[in-house]
Amino acid sequence: MNAPAIRLIRPYISFDEVETDFRNVFESGIFTRGPYVEEFRSELAVYTGARHAFLTTSATTALWVCLKLLGIGPGDEVVVSDFSFPATANVVEDLGARPIFADVSLETFNMLPEELERRISARTKAVIFVDAFGNPTGLSRIKAICEHHGLPLIEDAACAIGSSENGFRCGGIADLTCFSFHPRKLLTTGEGGAITTNRDDWAAWLEMKLAHGARGTKGPGLDFVDYGYNFRMSELQAVMGRKQLAKLEAIVDERNAIRGAYAAALAAYGFEPQHVGAEVRHNVQSLVFRVGGRCDRDRLIAGLRSRGVEATIGTYALSATTYHLHRYHDTQPNAAKLDGIAVTLPCYSGIDVGRVVSAICEVMNV
Ligand SMILES: Cc1ncc(COP(=O)(O)O)c(C=O)c1O
Repeated sequence: MNAPAIRLIRPYISFDEVETDFRNVFESGIFTRGPYVEEFRSELAVYTGARHAFLTTSATTALWVCLKLLGIGPGDEVVVSDFSFPATANVVEDLGARPIFADVSLETFNMLPEELERRISARTKAVIFVDAFGNPTGLSRIKAICEHHGLPLIEDAACAIGSSENGFRCGGIADLTCFSFHPRKLLTTGEGGAITTNRDDWAAWLEMKLAHGARGTKGPGLDFVDYGYNFRMSELQAVMGRKQLAKLEAIVDERNAIRGAYAAALAAYGFEPQHVGAEVRHNVQSLVFRVGGRCDRDRLIAGLRSRGVEATIGTYALSATTYHLHRYHDTQPNAAKLDGIAVTLPCYSGIDVGRVVSAICEVMNV
């Protein structure tokens, strides 16, 4: 099957940019735990403003490790944003705990403070707030509620590298923040992820656990003080990550300009962009609109795809996925509504916005 002419996103990295460093890696023979990983890790900490950063294989493994760190297990509840990719709740399920779905705002698509308050119980052990499509609007309010209840806050910032709230970048705000470097993200390492935290004790635990449980040496070997894991990023991936991190600000500026062009052109057709607070710099990881009235979302996506424009849904109402629906019967109205009316439109460097808008007009017969 041919790829559509207009893709949802194109990577912000070319082979030319990495060629020299890739050659260095091959010549050194160091493919893991080498200088590029160490550099990327410390640059990520500096960029996000977090005291500590750890690289992982994905946001999913990052989230899973964070829950392990917090000791989440059977009998525990974790409140999660209901409008997200299933990984957000899968990690909770996998550890035998129960995800409690908190409904989201129809405007920002993020967890509502009053819904979080309503869902906290004696069994709640943590909260996972999702920056929907990279938008951290409302994060500080959620953080204040977590602090009031003594609950650790994990920010699922899978989509939010480069976003900030009140001048603070995602990664330095919540107790633990998890990023994704999947190819749909602005910064991709193929697959990959990261954890950031400001807590020294948690950082020491992560350092040891992510090194198979080793801390220091014992004779000529390592001292395995605990059991641990391997969710490490490779040197080649770190090369890619560093290149994109260095130009992330320009990428975010450009994506905001594209978002502005789309919003101006589509307002007349009743397309409403995701709301972003004035205190937020949004990385526009995905360009998502609510469509309503005369526009049938599924017909729109099908029509665009048939015209060579890659469009897709926003994301999922987790509580309404087949698995969770059958298991908990606990759907949330706003997330369920957004599940049916949100559309993601293509956004990348050099995109022809006019062509996408014309295709939308054709599909809608206007
Ligand atoms: C909100 C959210 N959380 C978690 C994930 C999982 O990320 P990864 O593919 O890096 O495991 C995604 C992936 O798109 C996501 O959007």
